[in-house]
Amino acid sequence: MKTYKIAVMGGDGTGPEVTVEAVKVMKAAEARFGFKTELTDFDFGGERYKRTGETLPDSAIEEFKKFDSILLGAIGHPDVKPGILEKGILLKARFALDQYINLRPVRLYPGVPCPLKDKGPDEVDYVVVRENTGDAYTGAGGFTLKDTPNEVAVQSAVYNRFQVDRCLKYAFEYAKKHGKKARGKGKENTLGLVGKTNVLTYIYDLWERAFHEMGKKEYPDIRRDYYHVDATCMWMVKSPEWFDVLVTGNLFGDIITDLGAITQGGMGIAAGGNINPQGVSMFEPIGGSAPKYTGQGVINPLAAICAMQMMLETLGEDKAAKKIEDAVKFVTANKMKGMAAGKMGYSTSEVGDLVATEVAN
Ligand code: IPM
Ligand code: MN
Repeated sequence: MKTYKIAVMGGDGTGPEVTVEAVKVMKAAEARFGFKTELTDFDFGGERYKRTGETLPDSAIEEFKKFDSILLGAIGHPDVKPGILEKGILLKARFALDQYINLRPVRLYPGVPCPLKDKGPDEVDYVVVRENTGDAYTGAGGFTLKDTPNEVAVQSAVYNRFQVDRCLKYAFEYAKKHGKKARGKGKENTLGLVGKTNVLTYIYDLWERAFHEMGKKEYPDIRRDYYHVDATCMWMVKSPEWFDVLVTGNLFGDIITDLGAITQGGMGIAAGGNINPQGVSMFEPIGGSAPKYTGQGVINPLAAICAMQMMLETLGEDKAAKKIEDAVKFVTANKMKGMAAGKMGYSTSEVGDLVATEVAN
């Protein structure tokens, strides 16, 4: 029987609570689909940082490399200055494990309230492939004349051709396998590049040239579209049905996926994968640690469950992943009253039970 070693990092706030529910559903899937997982808990997060001053040490990165995957709850603590844990844990793992893809589906499930007028699951159904190692996230930059009236701050957006090409390759392959045509939902599999070629004339010029070069040569059957990022925001609200697979840089990807998340029902349900296709990937609900709801049993665990579902899909457990997605859809369509914390009509663990029961049946 196939056994996967999974590192579980519940993290801060409601992170541990939602991770427990994801594991519960995963265990139900194991029993039914004939695979096993061996779980190891890691307590990195705000509490440990406050106790020891440690965020995510290099030794933990080496340790993580021995796992098949990582399941993350949330990082962010109200008593710790913003940036320390985010950079020290989340971004450190993404960079050190070279998780160069951040895969974020924007998929509205049946029964989930959508803030967009006249849009439903057929319209809100696309995926953002966010590059995850470059852009303004590399830390390139600094201050001069700090704390003087003439202080200058520079934070450079950085990309090299290698980073852009490997991200595009993943995105084209993704569009080929999971695009709307591949899923019987459209005329052509389409990859849309989201950029800002009218202002960021270096970075997105590089992206655009690489995009068309690779597309023309290696993926002639995939339709290529280009959108400026500001217009993308507009269309994500007005006509999300236009989109199939979108690919973009790290910062634009960060911003547009929060907009995407709210159109799919909010942070209670939006999940993402930090993927190194040749290495160890890390899956997380994309909402934060929601400190004010900690320990009350009211937070929505579906985003964590969907993150675990993406993890199983990436590990190749397609049948289990499909079953879990169907179970989530069943629960959103037939059981839950809403997606927001405290408004679900069920507690956190009851939602986990509902999905786990569906998976088992
Ligand atoms: C996300 C988050 C992170 C990011 C933060 C917490 C560093 O917003 O995963 O989208 O900017 O990538
Ligand atoms: Mn974000």
